[in-house]
Parts: sequence; structure tokens; C-alpha cells
Amino acid sequence: MRPLVAHVLGARPNFMKAAPVVRALGQAGAGQMLIHTGQHYDARMSGVFFTDLGLPEPDVNLHVGSGRHGEQTAAVITGVERELMARRPALLVVYGDVNSTLGAALAAAKLQVPIAHVEAGLRSFDNTMPEEINRRLTDQLCELLFVTSPEAVGHLANEGIAPGGVHFTGNTMIDTLVACLDRLDAEAARMAHGLPERYLVATLHRPFNVDHPEAAALLVKAMHQVADEADVIMPVHPRGRVVFEAAGLAGHRRIRMCEPLAYLEFMSLVRGAAAAITDSAGVQEETTFLRVPCLTLRPVTERPVTVTSGSNRLVRAGELASAVHGALAAGPYAGELPPLWDGASAPRIARVITTWLATHRAAGAAPRSQPLDVGPG
Ligand code: UD1
Repeated sequence: MRPLVAHVLGARPNFMKAAPVVRALGQAGAGQMLIHTGQHYDARMSGVFFTDLGLPEPDVNLHVGSGRHGEQTAAVITGVERELMARRPALLVVYGDVNSTLGAALAAAKLQVPIAHVEAGLRSFDNTMPEEINRRLTDQLCELLFVTSPEAVGHLANEGIAPGGVHFTGNTMIDTLVACLDRLDAEAARMAHGLPERYLVATLHRPFNVDHPEAAALLVKAMHQVADEADVIMPVHPRGRVVFEAAGLAGHRRIRMCEPLAYLEFMSLVRGAAAAITDSAGVQEETTFLRVPCLTLRPVTERPVTVTSGSNRLVRAGELASAVHGALAAGPYAGELPPLWDGASAPRIARVITTWLATHRAAGAAPRSQPLDVGPG
């Protein structure tokens, strides 16, 4: 019987990282199953990505939903544990840094199911972000660690992670972007949203930007200054909608708020934008690849390569308008792209995994020979 590779996906940024890996492993003949935790459950935050990216329907949906961090992570652990015990995969693959990533890794580690982490080793060194905690702890539990940029190798070494399992394979989110480039129609997306030729795309959803009305009010003031210079389209994550509405974001006639967008529509808009304003992780990378100037409203980034070899700049709300002005004057990023952001990361990952599965099998490490239950006492 073919060894089974299980993938855990949960939130929007997982889907574009996983799609090319699932495809490449499928082409390599691996047996696979997809567990969707249901952390994101709206059609616009989840379903539409499966359609756009050609991801197969999940085999299981745990319907974890929203909740406090403890509640959400605990529900992921419980559901993933149940599935791992029933299906006994040879390897669990987790993606990125969301609560579903850490919950799944914890469940697998306790059952001694080996874990692979796609996008290992990124660090912001800011533990106020839940993603940083998720990344650090997940990496400690993994046997295979696939990194997207060279500095991540050093971070893992500094944390005592054995180098043998660390593989610099590149960025699978960029694989997805490369695979979709032909389907990105910037002009059609611009027209559909009634935007002029020069416009900006903005996405803001981080708790430190949207969970506090005072922070949101500062951002709204900054966004209004920006909109004095150029039209802005802003798909709004459910997390920020209420607070941005209350703070009067849409009060400027050149700001259009809309629902979260499907992958192809969003990336089409980014491709045609004169600049992007974000606090997202993925958008920092996607704009670098598309050479669109990016202003990131965060004090730190776990993706420094987007600043050193890309179009990204970290800014505070108070300096946003002048930073946008400068970015518009400077035009598209024209420098080098980060190494191995070439659209071929997932086949590299698939090669490592298939070799690992073959070696693991030959060594007789059959998945789960010991009892899975802790049992009494
Ligand atoms: C999560 C990730 C974050 C990622 C973001 C991308 C963690 C810790 N955070 O943040 O890293 O950048 O996804 O989107 O895992 N909600 C809906 N519908 C949904 C999902 C969420 O309405 O389909 C609302 C709920 O009210 C929920 C809130 O959004 O309370 C936050 O959802 P949650 O999954 O906890 O975190 P995100 O902010 O989406």
C-alpha cells in the first residue's frame, strides 16, 4: 500500500501555499488526503480558493470555526488527532503560521506522526503576534522543514533544529502566482471595480491594526490622506469590517470598500495597482514578485527578504501618505527577486518528501507501531 501523506489546511493563506504541493505530490504518485480544519469557513475566505486554485475537495472538514486562540487551537488538536488516529498517515504536512498549523502539528507530534512544515524558519521576533508563536513551536516539532528564504536556515539553526531536515526549496506561494499569471486580467478587474488607471490596493486585518478603535481611527486618517492622492480599493477581511465602518473609512469618495475577493480577482487587482498597502504576510511576497511597490503597516516583518530584495517598505500610519507618494514617484520595483522564487518550489518539496517516504519505509519505520492512546495512569 502507498504511504499516505495528510495535509492540514485551515485559513486563507494556507490554500495558495498548499495547492502546488498537493499537485506535485499527486504527479509523483503519492497517496494523499486533505484535512480542512474549517478555521476559515466563509465561501469568500475559503471555498472560492479551492475553485480558483484547483485544490481537490477536502476529505474531511473539522468545522472548527472562529473563537479565542485557545478554543480554536484546541478544537484543531482534537479534530486532527481523531483523523490521524483513524487514517494513520506516514507524514503530515502543515503550512504557514496560523492556529490550524500549530494545532495540527501538536496533535501529530503527540501521536508520533512525522511532520513537514512548508514555510519553516520565518521569524519576526515579535511574540505579540500569534503567528510568531505558531511558527516557533511548529518548527520544533518537525522532521522536514521547507524554507522559503536563506535567512530562515540560520533562524532554525539558532533554535537548535538539526540541519539534516532543513531544505531550502523556495516559496510555494510564488508557485501558485506563477501558475496563475496567465489568468490574471488586471484591466478587467480594474474595470469591474470602476477604478481609474492609477489606483492602490489595500488590505488590513491584523489584530493590532483593526481590533482597537483608536488604532483603526489612526489608520483611517492615514488612508484618507492617501486617497487624496490616488483611488483605493480595499477588500475588507471580516475581522476589520465593523471597526473600519465605525471609524468612517468609506467616508472618502476615492476609497471603495468591498468584500474579501477570490484569489484570481485579488491578484489581478494587485498586478495592475500602482502600489499596495497591507499588513498581510502573503501580500508582501506577492507584490515583490509582481514588482508592485508595497507599504507594510507593521513595525517588523518575518519576511525581511521582501525589504532587502523586493518592493516592500515597513511604515507607520503617520508616514503612510508620504511613503505612498514616494512609491508612486519611484514606480515599479526593478531589482533582483529573492532566490528560488521561480515557480518550481513544490516539485522540489515533492522530491524531498518522496525520497523521505521511500527511505523511511525501507528503514522499517512503519507508521504507528505503538499504541496511540495514553490510557489510564
Ligand atoms: C487568520 C490567521 C492570520 C492570517 C489570516 C488571513 C491565525 C492566528 N491568524 O487570521 O495569520 O493572516 O487568517 O485571513 O491563525 N471570520 C469570518 N469568516 C471566516 C473566518 C473568520 O467571519 O471565514 C471572522 C470571525 O469573526 C473571526 C475573525 O474573522 O472571529 C478572525 O478569524 P481567525 O481565523 O481567528 O483569524 P484571522 O484574523 O482570520
